[in-house]
Amino acid sequence: MADAGAIPAELLDALRETRHVCILTGAGISAESGVPTFRDAHSGLWARYRPEDLATTEAFLNDPALIWRWYRWRRRLVASAQPNAGHQALARLAELVPRMTLITQNVDGLHQRAGTQDVIEFHGNLFVDRCFLEGCAVDCSHDTDVPICPGCGSKVRPGVVWFGEQIPATALDLSFRAAADCDVFLSVGTSAVVQPAAGLIQIAREASAMTVEINPNPTDFADRVDFAIRASAGTALPELVDSLEV
Ligand code: OAD
Ligand code: ZN
Repeated sequence: MADAGAIPAELLDALRETRHVCILTGAGISAESGVPTFRDAHSGLWARYRPEDLATTEAFLNDPALIWRWYRWRRRLVASAQPNAGHQALARLAELVPRMTLITQNVDGLHQRAGTQDVIEFHGNLFVDRCFLEGCAVDCSHDTDVPICPGCGSKVRPGVVWFGEQIPATALDLSFRAAADCDVFLSVGTSAVVQPAAGLIQIAREASAMTVEINPNPTDFADRVDFAIRASAGTALPELVDSLEV
């Protein structure tokens, strides 16, 4: 296993010959856009809030106005953020390989704003409003503390996946298929501790894909991937794509 900031030549060779690259991103890729990660010791969201207080259905039922205050704060934060060089490099990578599947655990929409199409949103989207009862996306007013579904009068919730909830079936199915089919798998900016997303790396390994982690800090997977690139996504990804373009 290589363990350095530089892009391994074997990875560049694999990307020049790839049939299908699969990429899993996490909060770390948006860190350089100013969006806090979840588990980084000092700046991570979970260092300041307890997830069970804010990201569960029980919490929503208990105090929906509090949950909406938190999610509106996150919406404002993300709306004022811009995609960074890491997001932009992945949008460029899609143009250089025959097939790329981008799976993100992020709910911030920054990959899409950087120009990547068909992003698989594993944990939903921060900006979607969803009827709590019917589960469908709705177009509703935010004039009240807790928005109300125009169809059925039930409360509206943010369209993200909370702890204890199922991953949207289509996202799960497409992601597992892509991980099993790819020949290069990049895990970028994720602590890879939340299942089932972390299981995708294992599936790719079992399918004999080259597996690569891009993260300034080692994760639990660091000694099981073929290459661990110890650099920020905003540095490593542009370097990787620039090297492919020459
Ligand atoms: P975490 O906060 O758990 O992990 C962020 C990772 O990004 C850490 O491993 C950091 O070392 C790394 N990192 C920090 N800055 C970076 C940078 N500039 N470039 C690259 N990597 C960097 O976030 P996730 O793994 O995304 O789920 O967390 C997974 C899920 O847990 C989230 O989707 C969320 C959370 O609970 C739900 O809300 C359902
Ligand atoms: Zn409804």
